[in-house]
Amino acid sequence: MITVRGKRISTLYSAEQIAERNADMAAQMQGKEYNDLLVIAVLKGSFIFAADLIRAMYASGIAPEVEFITLSSYGKGTEAGKVQILRDIDSNVTDRDVLLIDDILESGNTLQFAKELMEQRGARNVEIAVLLDKHSKRKAQVTPNYVGFECPDHFVVGYGMDVAYAFRELPFVGVVEGDA
Ligand code: IMP
Ligand code: MG
Repeated sequence: MITVRGKRISTLYSAEQIAERNADMAAQMQGKEYNDLLVIAVLKGSFIFAADLIRAMYASGIAPEVEFITLSSYGKGTEAGKVQILRDIDSNVTDRDVLLIDDILESGNTLQFAKELMEQRGARNVEIAVLLDKHSKRKAQVTPNYVGFECPDHFVVGYGMDVAYAFRELPFVGVVEGDA
């Protein structure tokens, strides 16, 4: 247990465990015949995971181009599941293989939207890598190709993930347990 910003935070997945899973996922990609692979990190939460995973992919001999898309979900009420593009990629995806990288797959609305968007734009194939899969919360029909960890239904922070912009800097995935 550590204390950050007056909150007690427990470790769910350590930096070492995460690094091991990143290497495993990159090893799964090794030898795949990707066509002009474009990695798209879904911001903001994925920025640290994406940075580590693409370097693990380098170690597996994969040489993608890298892009970023910022998406936001309206979340609540009648608009639940509606996803908005806050900042789009610049690249053309026609006939290319795409790997979407996100921190957490929860309802699946965000990644279903992103996958369908890239397919509509003519991507050859779209794969999904997520650090955490909260399977019990799934609403949309989206299946990840690479999963770091099956995540229990806790609100997690760290390794890029935030509560109100805080805790992104933690090198591990943690759970806020309460006030210190
Ligand atoms: P969904 O799959 O469209 O429901 O959205 C998943 C997104 O919600 C993730 O990419 C995160 O940005 C965010 N999210 C879901 N659960 C958590 C959490 O426990 N901590 C931080 N962000 C979360
Ligand atoms: Mg996200």
